[in-house]
Amino acid sequence: MASEFEYHPLSNSKEQEQLKEIVAQCFGSTPADSEYYFKLIGSNNFRLLCQSGQVIGGLAIYSMGQWYGGQSVPMKGIAAVSVAPEYRGKGAAYQLMKYALQEIHSLGIPISVLYAATQALYRKVGYEQGGSYCRWELDTAKINVRERNLSMQRINTDEYEIFERLYAQQARINNGNLVRPQAIWSRIIKPPQEQKIYAYVIGSVREPEGYVLFAQNDTSEGLSIDIKDWTILTTAAALSFWTFLADHRSQVQQVQWRGSPIEEKLLFLPEQTAKITSKTYWLLRIIDVSVALSQRGYPLGVEVELHLEVKDDFFPDNNGKFCLKVSRGRGEVFKGGKGELQLDVRGLASLYTGLFTPVQLKLVGYLQSTKEALTIATLLFSGSEPWMPDFF
Ligand SMILES: CC(C)(COP(=O)(O)OP(=O)(O)OC[C@H]1O[C@@H](n2cnc3c(N)ncnc32)[C@H](O)[C@@H]1OP(=O)(O)O)[C@@H](O)C(=O)NCCC(=O)NCCS
Repeated sequence: MASEFEYHPLSNSKEQEQLKEIVAQCFGSTPADSEYYFKLIGSNNFRLLCQSGQVIGGLAIYSMGQWYGGQSVPMKGIAAVSVAPEYRGKGAAYQLMKYALQEIHSLGIPISVLYAATQALYRKVGYEQGGSYCRWELDTAKINVRERNLSMQRINTDEYEIFERLYAQQARINNGNLVRPQAIWSRIIKPPQEQKIYAYVIGSVREPEGYVLFAQNDTSEGLSIDIKDWTILTTAAALSFWTFLADHRSQVQQVQWRGSPIEEKLLFLPEQTAKITSKTYWLLRIIDVSVALSQRGYPLGVEVELHLEVKDDFFPDNNGKFCLKVSRGRGEVFKGGKGELQLDVRGLASLYTGLFTPVQLKLVGYLQSTKEALTIATLLFSGSEPWMPDFF
């Protein structure tokens, strides 16, 4: 029953300590990790779930954005969803998520994203697979690229406005990449384990063409480079970047990074030796259908109308027929229309990000559509495969 729970921000240090303890137990983190995490996110971004005055769980809400079709869409990221073990299995997490979604909806934020330890919980409240997060690995001895047209300039990580500026240029052309909040940048630049972070810009410091931030880890198989973040904006930067990594091969066995399942940068390598070592999907929820559809970008040169009919058990405004009118890469949304493509809010999440094509979604029963609307939707939601290099 909804009424037996209360949901609110942290109001004092006692509540903060109680939630910290629950989060640490839920995720097996040390008190030091927990301390770091609460500082990083900021205590005002945590929400509590209480029952009879007792803290039984909580979560964190990050304010950020995501790029779709070259436009940034405001987004709330959800993390650290926790329910104390003795309160589990009675719908507490479900209620916690419902409260969080209502809060996000009341703020007018159109989408929310999270990484799921169990999809079942989040699907019940309207999230669906939106894009991927992949870990890649490559032997440095197999890079085999030697082009030193651009210099690699070591810089201080404190100068991170340079990284922010370059990253934004790369992120905007990659569907699903984040408009990163301060907390994500801090975790890249000052990781909790006090690892030494090496930072290089590629090309001149005044007009860099990319950058790389990495740590070196001592593993049982030797040294490895863990790329925390990278941006490569030109062909010359990509070649210099691979050469720089290959130059580590006398001591460093492997390089790891987080990227897209389809890595165009690997086209520069002579052989296909890089491997995806793990892959997971982040989930997205459409919180406000009209705002979400009108804030993303669409392919230029496509002047069409898509007539949708959406079903959402949570938010009444999201139900019914919508006409998405696209012109010059932007969309306007009107209530009403012919409802030629029908789907629920979960199907819309996977369509919106472009993770699955409308034809694929129709095959699995996530949508019904006329042939014409299917073709229009295929055009509108085409683009780069959605992914992000950040885990939160
Ligand atoms: C995951 C967690 C938050 C669930 O809390 P809970 O209060 O027991 O969940 P609820 O009772 O509200 O369950 C809601 C739905 O979630 C799903 N679910 C809950 N726990 C699950 C689990 N351990 N594995 C798979 N699905 C689960 C079920 O589908 C359930 O619906 P159902 O009862 O109709 O089958 C809790 O087990 C937890 O804190 N775990 C440790 C931290 C964690 O993994 N958090 C999630 C990070 S993304």
